[in-house]
Amino acid sequence: MSQRTFSIIKPDAVKAGNTAAILAEIQKAGFKIVAIKRMSISLAQAEGFYHVHSARPFFGELTQFMSSGPIFPMVLEKDNAIADFRKLMGATNPAQAEEGTLRKLFAASIGENAVHGSDAEDTAAFEIGYFFAGIELK
Ligand code: CMP
Repeated sequence: MSQRTFSIIKPDAVKAGNTAAILAEIQKAGFKIVAIKRMSISLAQAEGFYHVHSARPFFGELTQFMSSGPIFPMVLEKDNAIADFRKLMGATNPAQAEEGTLRKLFAASIGENAVHGSDAEDTAAFEIGYFFAGIELK
C-alpha cells in the first residue's frame, strides 16, 4: 500500500554538492518526491526534531551539525516507503552500510551520514508535520 516517509538531505551532503545525485538515486528507487524545500534550521529547531534522542550522548553533536548549514527536508511516497527508504539509506554507520546504499555512496561518518529517514509510521507523521504544512502535501 502506498505510504509516505520523511527524509532529510543533511548539511554534509548539501555542502559536498551531492543533493542532485542523492535525489536521482531516490527517484531511481521508485520514490515520488511529494514535497521538498531547501532551508536552514536553528539549534532549537534541530533539538525539537530530534527530541527522542535528547538523552543520548551524541545529542549535542547531532543537533549542532543539523543546524550547521542548509538541508533539504522532503516527503517521499511509494509502496512500503518507510522500510524501503531505510534499505536505500543503508546502516546509520556508513562503515557498515551495504554497497549501493546512499550512506555507502555519500556519507563520511556515523554523525555526518548524508541522509535521514523516518523509522516508523508514528515518527514519519511527526517528522512530516514538523517541516511541512498540509497545504504543501497534496
Ligand atoms: P538519523 O537517522 O538522522 O537519526 C539520529 C541520528 O543520530 C543518526 O541519523 C546519526 O546521524 C546520529 N547518530 C547516531 N549515533 C551516533 C553517534 N554515535 N555519534 C554521533 N551521531 C550519531
